[in-house]
Formats: sequence, structure tokens, C-alpha cells
Amino acid sequence: MSRSPAEIKQEILRLTREYTALVHGANRPGRENAQAFTPGRSTVPYAGRVFTEDEVEAGVGAMLDFWLTLGAEGEAFERELAAFLGVKHSLLVNSGSSANLLALSALTSHKLPAHKRIVPGDEVITVAAGFPTTVSPIIQCGAVPVFIDSSPSTGNVCAGQLQTAYAPGKTKAVMIAHTLGNPFDLGAVLEFCRQHDLWLIEDNCDALGCTYSMPVERAKALGFAENSPGVPDDGRHITRYTGAWGDISTQSFYPPHHLTMGEGGAVNIVKHAPLKSYVESFRDWGRDCWCHSGKDNTCGKRFGWQLGELPRGYDHKYIYSHLGYNLKPLDPQAAIGRQQLKKLPSFIEARKQNWAVLRAGLADLEDVFAFTLPTHAVAWTQNGFEWDATGCKTDCSWFGFMLRVRPNAPFTHSELARHLDEKKIGNRMLFGGNLVRQPVFVQLKKDRPQAFRVAGGLAGADEIMNQAVFLGTFPGLTPAMLAFEIDVIRSFVATKRK
Ligand SMILES: Cc1ncc(COP(=O)(O)O)c(C=O)c1O
Repeated sequence: MSRSPAEIKQEILRLTREYTALVHGANRPGRENAQAFTPGRSTVPYAGRVFTEDEVEAGVGAMLDFWLTLGAEGEAFERELAAFLGVKHSLLVNSGSSANLLALSALTSHKLPAHKRIVPGDEVITVAAGFPTTVSPIIQCGAVPVFIDSSPSTGNVCAGQLQTAYAPGKTKAVMIAHTLGNPFDLGAVLEFCRQHDLWLIEDNCDALGCTYSMPVERAKALGFAENSPGVPDDGRHITRYTGAWGDISTQSFYPPHHLTMGEGGAVNIVKHAPLKSYVESFRDWGRDCWCHSGKDNTCGKRFGWQLGELPRGYDHKYIYSHLGYNLKPLDPQAAIGRQQLKKLPSFIEARKQNWAVLRAGLADLEDVFAFTLPTHAVAWTQNGFEWDATGCKTDCSWFGFMLRVRPNAPFTHSELARHLDEKKIGNRMLFGGNLVRQPVFVQLKKDRPQAFRVAGGLAGADEIMNQAVFLGTFPGLTPAMLAFEIDVIRSFVATKRK
């Protein structure tokens, strides 16, 4: 008797799970990974995909359904991510870089009130120490990035410099990342933005699952009275995920990030609902229509519009209100992402634990290393962090474990990085270091001197560029890998001290 399509699919998915268990054991979460690790022979990656049978089954299932373009899985992922963060909407896109481009593009929409719209020549404040595609959309949209410095201790914006960068009538937005899973000083940045009526775009690509806590009265004054969903309430603070404080925030789902679908990203609309339709329009060819793919007439008057100089009744599906792109991902990616989302709480926990293991294991090397502190922390102790007097706190879902080699150490940060490489321990610089020193920005300054501006010095960004290196904290690390990393660094320091 021939089998039904449902039975065949079930069999394929059963075999898919069996295959995955046999072939992809090394990609399981670190603490349940039984694969042999041979110190010095095996690689300790700084990041990578962490998945089980669930993701592969979801991806294969979606491929068998073969809808392909963004559809039901994508819509479900968008709802689930928005519900996790406690934001109004999330929109799925094909990368974190696309998410940043769309977030900035949305703020150029002619549908915004004139004083809020970013137009060519307007300025957007950002930092020099970071990832290039946090900054490039500003220029791609015709605006001017104004660089300020970052604190080497947190890797985050020196919020005290925001005022120096502000140009009345020109500054329209602040666009900065929560560096390596360390929330920036949201209290100070939001207060600056409210004072001058500026947009805040949080690049949350490296920080999904971080929280920021603010004393209740201060949070209420900034318009926040509720915690993000599921975040414990201590009665004294409002605690929300990063990405749920600004106007728009962005995510990346490239493999090193907190969850992955291969390529992918998201734009989160925190409160102001109309921004969703602008982001959607720029994502989807610039169209005015908001029908999901495969659907018609969602607005109920497909042939009832008169926009621009088009004839009345022109098909709304083909009316364009923005100079758009097509930056949608595929539906099978979203199917994979939905399985990853279910694992997100355990991934976040693993990142915190891995950071804590590395920090404790290197604790007595403070004379040669300066270790990153969470924003608002003033000191690390074996019992936890000590906090500053603002009443604000951060809880980091770490993207990486960053340390700086002190200038008086008997080795340089390049020597350390080279040694880690020889031992097959994955390590990275803080992305572009001081971006202004990158060839692209040096050239830009020659080609168009007005293309960007630096406000104040960038000594912190230079220090990060010259002294910082980071190790992974991703959930795929096993206890044996972490122990090996600590051992290698300790032996390296001991040898150099001799
Ligand atoms: C802070 C930050 N923003 C944006 C991106 C870009 O994300 P994607 O690689 O998905 O384009 C990255 C990439 O790692 C990043 O670290």
C-alpha cells in the first residue's frame, strides 16, 4: 500500500533527527556535549551554531513544505520575538546589517513629522569603537555620523560626551550598540534623547537577552512603567531587555549571535506603531501596500487609493512610497529561528556562566589584564559586582569575554592573540577597533571631508583597538574548553613573567 504524503514527511523528519544526532553532536549545547576534546589539538571556537535535532527537523520540514519566501513561520517568529522582548512589533530581515539599514531608513520617511524626519545632512551620534554596519547606514541614508568615544572598561559609549556632539537643528538620532552583550548606559542616553527630542536606535545585535534595570521613578519619567515579560520584579526597578528601551532596535541572527538562522536579523519597533509600516515598506521594495506575500487586498481597498500622481484606483500592490530594498529572509530560516528562540533562555544563562568561569579563572591576573566591567559596575568580586550610585544595573548576556592587556604587561595584546591562535583558541578584536582609522573612513575623509565628524578625542577607541582582545562565551563551550583557555592564558602569563 502506498504511503500518504504525511506519512512520508513524518518518516523523513524521523530520519532527519536520527541523522542529526549522529552527525552534529559537536554542535549541541556545551554542557551536554559529550564529544571528546583534546586540549591543544581540538579547536576552541569563539562562537558558532549551537543546535540539536529540533532546528534541523524544523528546517527540513519547512523545505518540504516549500513555501520558501517569508510566510507563516516568519510571521510566527516575529510575534514570538516581539513577545519575548516586550516590544510592539518585530520584523524579520536577512541580516543585522540590513536591520540597521532599515531602522535608519525608516526614520527618513516622508510620512514622519518634518521635525522628526532624518534628511540629508542631518547628524546621527554614534561611537567609533564598534561594528561598521552600525555606522554605514547613517552615511548610506545621506546623514552624517558624529563619532564619540567609548569607555575601554565597558566597551560602551561615553555618555558624558553626547552633549559635546549635539548640534542644534542638525542632530536627529543616536545610534549605538550594546557592546559584546554589555548594555550601554540607557539611563543617561535616554535622558539625552528626551532632552533634545531625538530618536534612539539600539543596535542590539550582540545583546539579545541582556537586561537593564532603572529605579522606578527614573524609568517612569522616561516613559517606562513595565518590566519586559517574564523578567522578575524587585519592586524598586523597572527591568527591561536591551532592545526594548529605544525607539527602534535591531538583532542579528548570524551564527556567532545569541540565536541563529544562518543569516538573518530583525528590526524591533518598541512603541511607536507607525514605524512598523515604514520599516516594512523599505524592507519590501518600498511599497505602500502591506499585504503579506501570497495575500491580496489586506487594506480592503486595493483599487481605492489615489497616491502621488498615479490615477485613482491604481493597484495598491504596485504603489511605492519609499526608495526601498528587498531584504527579506526565507521562511525555512524563520522555522529554524523559532526552535532557537525556545532555547534562548538556556543560551543566555550559558553565556553568563561561561563569562563567570573565565572571570574567576583569571581573577588573580589583574596586574597584566584589565577585565571588562558591566556598565554601572565599579568592581568585580568572587561574590558578584559592586554597583555605582545611580541605582541602575545591568545583567549581561555576554557575546564575548573582553580583556585589555595592560601597557606595563610583559607582552602585547598581539602576542597574546598569536599565542591563543597557536593553541587553537578562537579570539577576536573588538570588530573595527577605532572605525575612523579603517581604510574606508580614511578614504571617505579624502573624498568627502564632510561625510562624518569626530566630536572630542577617541582615546578610548584607540585603547580598545590597541589593547583589547575577546574570547568566546557562546553556549557551545564545554567546561573542558573553558578550563583549557584559562590554563593556556595562565601559563602564557607565567612564562612571560619569568
Ligand atoms: C554590533 C553589530 N551590529 C551589526 C552587526 C551585523 O550583523 P550581520 O552580520 O547579521 O549583518 C554585527 C555583526 O556581528 C554586530 O556585531
